[in-house]
Order: sequence, then structure tokens, then C-alpha cells
Amino acid sequence: MGSAHRIGVVGLGFISAVYLETLAAAPDVEITAVADLDRARADAAAGSLPSARARSVDALLAADDVDIVLNLTIPAAHADIALGAIAHGKHVYGEKPLAVTFADAEEILRAARTAGVRVGCAPDTVLGTGIQTARAVVDAGEIGRPIAATAQMVTPGHERWHPNPDFYYRPGGGPLLDMGPYYVTALVQLLGPVTSVVGAGSRLRSERVIATGDRAGQAVRVEVDSHVTGILHHASGALSTITTTFDGTATQAPPIEVHGENGSLSVPDPNHFDGEASVHELGGDGWVPVPPRAGIAGTARGAGLLDLLRAPAGVGPRASGDIALHVLEIMTGLLGSAASGSRVDMTTTVERPPLVPLA
Ligand SMILES: NC(=O)c1ccc[n+]([C@@H]2O[C@H](COP(=O)([O-])OP(=O)(O)OC[C@H]3O[C@@H](n4cnc5c(N)ncnc54)[C@H](O)[C@@H]3O)[C@@H](O)[C@H]2O)c1
Repeated sequence: MGSAHRIGVVGLGFISAVYLETLAAAPDVEITAVADLDRARADAAAGSLPSARARSVDALLAADDVDIVLNLTIPAAHADIALGAIAHGKHVYGEKPLAVTFADAEEILRAARTAGVRVGCAPDTVLGTGIQTARAVVDAGEIGRPIAATAQMVTPGHERWHPNPDFYYRPGGGPLLDMGPYYVTALVQLLGPVTSVVGAGSRLRSERVIATGDRAGQAVRVEVDSHVTGILHHASGALSTITTTFDGTATQAPPIEVHGENGSLSVPDPNHFDGEASVHELGGDGWVPVPPRAGIAGTARGAGLLDLLRAPAGVGPRASGDIALHVLEIMTGLLGSAASGSRVDMTTTVERPPLVPLA
């Protein structure tokens, strides 16, 4: 890929602001086009970006001055936008999840292989110093052979702060597909690929009430489980236990813990780039913080896109479509297992990308 990377952004809602900020600070990229179903949002974004034109979605996907499409639409639109971009020979980097269904995600990667374009996918937070330092501890054998991990995401629901939270309660949403990508991607970074899963789910209420913005007071129908829990069998033999819920209030449990033969590791929030890992050695006196020793420091969402754009020929993106596909199979496997009551075996696996050097 050349040096002036021309980006077309589709979807200019809540999360787009942080991406636009990250990209504005990158000298080797230019946002040439923006599009949203809501034309006013595209016009507003174009107004603040001298290099960008507001276009229709179809015109952006076909545009000659766009090399890569940054897909920040809602989950239900991820696959259509990605496939549209690939059909026009463009690389794609998208928000999580890669798609709502595993079949759609597989199709995205198949189409990209045929077209010879790259696919990257959030979360890129796992490339930050928090998760990468924790992984460096595991990789160095400092807690011995990893036996198990726990991961927990507890929140009372995004309708308390998001002005348009409908998608969180529709197929493709729910706590696992929404927040699970951070935790499951971190667990794959820490403990490697997963071979099978067992899941269970429940839902507290059939409606949620929007608390903020123009639609405050409006009810949103809940179409998916709002509490999802499960067990991941890693190929290494380690077992991870995950809980993701929109039905709880708060937790004091660390976001992730890894337990090894010789010690335990407390892992910072995988929804953030930084945060401190700490280790409790077997026979030691307590938790000892680990200074950052791997990962990208001081960055924000968009780092994975820049990594994809700047990767030398032949080197895949660190926040890759392949990882996102495996993570999606794990998550949809947990949901399928919750529905059927049976264990679900994975059909995909993935190689962990190399540890990210401290930068
Ligand atoms: N809100 C957050 O804090 C957050 C954090 C990390 C990741 N994400 C992810 O980012 C994505 C977007 O979330 P958001 O909070 O910005 O949502 P949002 O609803 O605020 O914004 C989504 C935008 O996409 C547009 N859109 C929807 N379908 C489209 C289509 N087919 N074509 C063109 N535009 C379309 C909508 O009009 C809207 O402007 C989701 O995948 C979400 O999981 C959100």
C-alpha cells in the first residue's frame, strides 16, 4: 500500500469522533469521503474535515479516491458495508463484531481473499500496553502453565448513556456480541485459540428505557439475552469462564484474571489500551504491579487501522479479520450452546499475532 492512505468512513455516530481524532493526528492518512444513512451526519463530518466529501454510501464504496473503508456502522450493517467495499476492491477495517453471523463473517474473509484486499477489525485495544504486558507475563512463563482464566463484564445497560441504544438489544447486540469481543479477543491473545464452548443465557426485562438524548423516556424492546455466560476450552487445555451482562450493577472483580501453576495474573480492562497488570506469585506476599513492557502506549481507537495500513507487504494486520472471525465463532458458539444446551465445537482456529513491542 502507498504512503497517502485514502480513507472513506461509513457510519458517523457515537464512536466516529474518537476515530476521526486518531486519524487527524496521523500524517500518512487522508479522509477523502464520509457517508451515513443519516445524510446530516455525513454533511456535519465533511464540514469539519477539509479533505472529505459527503457522499451516498454506494458512491463512497465505489469512489476512486477511497483505498480503504472504515466501517463504523451498527453491527447489523457491518457485513453489507464490508462486502460492498470488497466488491469494489477496497480494504476494510471495521468496528466489532466483524458481522452478526458467523456465516456472514466467513463470507467477508472469503471475498477479501479472492479480491486480494485486507480485512481488519476492532478491538484494537488489545494492542495497547495493558493486554500486551499481561500477555508478555504469560508468554515469559512467569505464572507457569496457565490453567484457567475468568473474565467478567458487568453493566446495567448502555441505554443509560447511549442516545440510540436500540442495536444493543437486537440480534447482533446483547452483552456478549457487544462487549465480548474485548474480553474474548484478550483471552485469545493471552491463552491462544479455543476448540469448544459451553454457554448459557437469560434476560432480566423485555424492555429497556432510554435515559438520555432526544429519545429519553422511549422504550426499546429486548430481543436478545441480556446476561450471557460460558466456558471456553482453549487448545492449550486452559479453561476460561466468561460472564457478560447488561443486567448487573457493578463488580469489584478484575476484568480478567489468569491462573497459572506458579501464580495468578490480574489483567486490566480490555476495553482500554492501557491499565496495569499485576502478578501474585505462588508463595508471594501479595499483588505486584508489572510496569508496561509490551504494546502501543498512548494511543486510541484507530490504532488497529493504522497498523493495517502501515504493515509491510506480506505482514497481516494485528487486529485482523482472522482473529475477529475466530472470536465471532466463539461468541456465536456460546449463544448457540445457550440455546441448544449442548457443547459447540469450533471450526476455526487462529495463530496469535506476535507480541507487540513496547512503542
Ligand atoms: N458507542 C461506543 O462507545 C462504542 C465503542 C466501541 C465500539 N462501538 C461500535 O461501533 C459501532 C457503531 O457504534 P456507535 O455507538 O457509533 O453507533 P451509532 O448508532 O451512534 O452510530 C452508527 C451510525 O451508523 C449509521 N448507519 C447505520 N447503518 C448504516 C448503513 N447501512 N449505512 C451507512 N450508515 C449506517 C447510523 O446512521 C449512525 O450514524 C458498533 O459496531 C459498536 O459496537 C461503539
